[in-house]
Amino acid sequence: SRYTIVDKDTCIACGACGAQAPDVFDYDEEGLAEVILDENTGTSPVSDALEDDLLDAFEGCPSDSIKVSSSPFHGALNT
Ligand code: F3S
Repeated sequence: SRYTIVDKDTCIACGACGAQAPDVFDYDEEGLAEVILDENTGTSPVSDALEDDLLDAFEGCPSDSIKVSSSPFHGALNT
């Protein structure tokens, strides 16, 4: 499985990820992306059915703000 998390410090609210992977990413009130599955903590595995969407979004993010790993993140970035 893959885990994902958005670095909101570098996200520029471009909106590409939610278009590419609407079941993985949504936006907060500022338009910054966040992972729907686990409130952007990177702790819930992305289902196999959503993996292609996830990887497309990962590759398409213009600011490299989408992090993807085969192991869980620990609830926050930059801490
Ligand atoms: Fe932000 Fe990248 Fe998505 S800039 S809105 S995380 S495609």
